[in-house]
Amino acid sequence: MTRPGDVAGRDGAAPLPVAVLISGDGSNLQALIDAQQAGELPIDIRVVVSNRGDAFGLTRAERAGIQTRVLSHREFPTRSAYDAALALLLGGFEPGLVVLAGFMRILTPELVASFHGRMLNIHPSLLPRYPGLHTHQRALDAGDTEHGATVHFVTDELDGGPGLLQARVPVLPGDDAERLAARVLAQEHRIYPLAVHWFATGRLCLGADGQAMLDGAPLTAPVQIDAVAPTPADRAG
Ligand code: GAR
Repeated sequence: MTRPGDVAGRDGAAPLPVAVLISGDGSNLQALIDAQQAGELPIDIRVVVSNRGDAFGLTRAERAGIQTRVLSHREFPTRSAYDAALALLLGGFEPGLVVLAGFMRILTPELVASFHGRMLNIHPSLLPRYPGLHTHQRALDAGDTEHGATVHFVTDELDGGPGLLQARVPVLPGDDAERLAARVLAQEHRIYPLAVHWFATGRLCLGADGQAMLDGAPLTAPVQIDAVAPTPADRAG
C-alpha cells in the first residue's frame, strides 16, 4: 500500500518494509515517522511492537496509522520463549529491517540470527564505551568531556555489533544525567533516520565477514557527526 509521504527506495523500488520495537516513549520512532511522512525516508513501517502496554510510542504509532502489537515479556516463562514468539510475530510482517528504538531487552542469539544483517539498534553512548544501562551517569562519573549515541548492527554481543554512525555532544558544566540525556537524544533523532535511510536505499549492509559496508566499502569505524554547538537552553542551565 502506498501512503502519502512514501518515496521510492533503491532503484525506484517499493519502500522497505520495517518493523520497529519499542519499550517506552518512542521519540526515535517519531523521528522515523516524521522523516517518512516528510517523504525523506523510503520505508513502510508495517508494525510497531512493544513489550510494554503502557509505552507512549504505541500512541505515536496509532496516531500515524501504523499497526501496533503488545507482546508482554511477563506472559512468557523464559527469555527464549518470549523471543521465539517475537520472531514469529515479526516474521508475519515480513520486515526487510527490524529497528530497535529503545527496546529495553537483551535478545537471544536465536532472535538475532533470525534477522541477521537486518536489525539495527541505537544506543545512548559512544560505543564501545558504556554498553548496557545508565550510560549518561556513567559518562558523567568518568568525567568525560564528550558523550553521544551510536547506531549499530545488532549481533549476539550486547551493544557490540559493528558501529555505523555516531553523534557526539559536549558534556557541559552543570550537566546532570537528565540534561545530558536530552542533548544526546536530540542527536539520536538526527542519526537514526539517516542510518535507516542508508539501509533502505541499499547503501548500507552487513558484509559476509560481519563487517558493515557503506557504499561498497568496509566501514572500519562509525561515521562521525560532529558535536553541535550548545543550545541557548544549555548555556542558560
Ligand atoms: C534512547 O535514548 C535509546 O538510545 C535508548 O533508549 C532511549 C529510548 O528513547 N536505548 C537504549 O538504551 C538501548 N540500549 P525513545 O523511546 O524516546 O526513542
